[in-house]
Amino acid sequence: MTNKILQINNLTMIYENNPEENAVIKNMNLTVDRNEFLCILGASGCGKTTLLRCIAGFEKYSGEIKVNGERKALPGTDRIMVFQDFNQLFPWKTVEKNIQYPLKKQGIKDKAKLKQLSDEALAKVKLTGYGHYYPYQLSGGMKQRVAIAKALALKPEIILMDEPFAALDAMTRNKLQSELLNISIEEDCTIIFITHNIQEAIVLGTRIMVLDKGGEIVIDEKNSIARPVSPASKGYGELWERLHSALYKNA
Ligand SMILES: Nc1ncnc2c1ncn2[C@@H]1O[C@H](COP(=O)(O)OP(=O)(O)O)[C@@H](O)[C@H]1O
Ligand SMILES: [Mg+2]
Repeated sequence: MTNKILQINNLTMIYENNPEENAVIKNMNLTVDRNEFLCILGASGCGKTTLLRCIAGFEKYSGEIKVNGERKALPGTDRIMVFQDFNQLFPWKTVEKNIQYPLKKQGIKDKAKLKQLSDEALAKVKLTGYGHYYPYQLSGGMKQRVAIAKALALKPEIILMDEPFAALDAMTRNKLQSELLNISIEEDCTIIFITHNIQEAIVLGTRIMVLDKGGEIVIDEKNSIARPVSPASKGYGELWERLHSALYKNA
């Protein structure tokens, strides 16, 4: 086991159906440590989703992506994606069946064990008692919690989150941010979290990156602000300004 949970060497990604377009990601190098909470900011179209899709094994790229020292080119339950879209659950399955489904695929057959694992995951996202609900009976925030529970239950090496809170109202978003922060502290997990929201990156990230076109890394720094972070925290305004000017440089 290595402390470098993710190593990306010379990643270049060009969409085959779009040969006119320059590489969406050009020669990217990135190393992520175990238990890091890496927040990535970047303007629309700079390649953030593409980067996560490459890590998840959904794209054919050139270069090398290693998880725990092993090369990864195909999807696997060691890298789970959580999306922005509220419709990432099977609508015909209950909450607990949604969580259990990939566990069954992993070979867990015992019903009591499956129930125990889904109950544990639901408790982590504060949805105890909602296992028998269907997705249509849940609010957007609750659906995102279930998506997070589903990811946690699989105990992935890396959770890849693509703007998971972007479609939520501000209050629900703040609540989910602080819950995710607590989960990340309590669980042994590594998170790569994409957001357009500077506040969100500062509150959640142990490390913050700003990407520019072509996946160029223009800022990459440890977040040294003491947790829990609030806008009144020492260093917040300065960091916010720095991230903001990098993010809006070409806007
Ligand atoms: N499936 C695809 N086929 C062709 N081009 C794509 C595809 N997906 C994304 N792109 C292009 O790649 C660039 C980066 O997209 P994306 O990774 O979604 O950016 P972001 O998530 O940072 O907004 C955009 O110019 C987009 O149009
Ligand atoms: Mg995107």
